[in-house]
Amino acid sequence: MSGTSLESLQKKIGFYGNSPEVEDLMHTITMVAPTDLSVLIIGESGTGKELVATAIHNLSKRKDKPLITVNCGAIPEGILESELFGHEKGSFTGAIGQKKGYFEVADKGTIFLDEIGEMALNTQVKLLRVLETAEFMRVGGTTTHKVDVRVVAATNKDLEKAVETGEFRRDLYFRLKAITVRIPPLRKRKQDIPILVKKFSHDYALKNDIDFKGFAPEAIDLMMEYNWPGNVRELRNFVETAIILNKGEIIRPEYIRNTLNIHREESISENLPVPLNKTPDQAERELIYRTLISLKLDMGEIKRSLSALLENNIAFQKRQYGEVYTSPEGQSPEKEVQPMTLSDMERKLIKETLQRFGGSRRKTARALQISERTLYRKINEYGL
Ligand SMILES: Nc1ncnc2c1ncn2[C@@H]1O[C@H](COP(=O)(O)OP(=O)(O)OP(=O)(O)O)[C@@H](O)[C@H]1O
Ligand SMILES: [Mg+2]
Repeated sequence: MSGTSLESLQKKIGFYGNSPEVEDLMHTITMVAPTDLSVLIIGESGTGKELVATAIHNLSKRKDKPLITVNCGAIPEGILESELFGHEKGSFTGAIGQKKGYFEVADKGTIFLDEIGEMALNTQVKLLRVLETAEFMRVGGTTTHKVDVRVVAATNKDLEKAVETGEFRRDLYFRLKAITVRIPPLRKRKQDIPILVKKFSHDYALKNDIDFKGFAPEAIDLMMEYNWPGNVRELRNFVETAIILNKGEIIRPEYIRNTLNIHREESISENLPVPLNKTPDQAERELIYRTLISLKLDMGEIKRSLSALLENNIAFQKRQYGEVYTSPEGQSPEKEVQPMTLSDMERKLIKETLQRFGGSRRKTARALQISERTLYRKINEYGL
């Protein structure tokens, strides 16, 4: 794709970046969008799945018809089916009148099934039926209805694994995955960072009428060293906060270093000069204290998680190497000790963060840099 056509496509789609990965993505989107094929979009949280789904709709002949987004992870299991397919009067308690489902509302348009990996197996059967026959039945209904709806689905889950564990139907997976659009995480395409920063900062400054002086080149370099676990959404939030906090000034590498905790040693030696009027011992202690404070509260959480992990894994190794393990509480030594897994850690972190913010999901999601929906899903998943 030539430079200019990529640029004009980016404007049209709103999906920015100049890495080969993004170029490929643009290419796939333009090929697939005008067809009626169902598309499966796979990517971590914050990579732009919704943006791509919208682009597919807007570049299709359905663009003047509805695009209906359904978050399968946020709607409780029983309700999702009647939301999608509608219901007849009296089909269940509370079904006072007949109601149209999203498939009917989206007729001639597109339905975007977000977080499809969360869809219950029963509902998956019905979805597969619509995909194969273009027909559906309302909940409690006896007649079938025809629809003309294009399905775009998205997930941040490993659907193949979900098929293995029986949580996702194989037939539906094969049907959906025929056209798959994978959005790589931002850390795998850091080349896109400068363009994204430019786009987000200009948009934000313009919209909010902020005097924005730009980022120093070294500041951008530093941003490319960071891994952006929350992907483009995290980058966008970061840029917007940086603009607010640095009004009228060029954003310097020190700001980036301190807020993203990059090159910590270097920034500490710059920011915390050794006090001259102290003995070397005192000076050292003071330096350590100040360093600890500057590492932010979050470190406490990381430390606690790490020590729990360490304790657990030491116990596991002791067992592996034949040493008798007795827990301090005198629990049965026969109890199998397993190393803590990543999901154990995640569960623990979410639980503790929720506690720290008095159960506020909004604050917890923000602190963990995940969407509220993702948090909601994880709370369900871990039974918190
Ligand atoms: N390549 C990009 N160019 C411009 N903006 C982007 C790009 N990728 C993502 N964004 C922006 O990042 C934010 C997150 O994107 P989006 O909501 O589409 O992600 P998602 O993959 O659906 O996330 P989640 O799984 O958490 O729902 C949005 O504000 C979106 O506009
Ligand atoms: Mg999304």
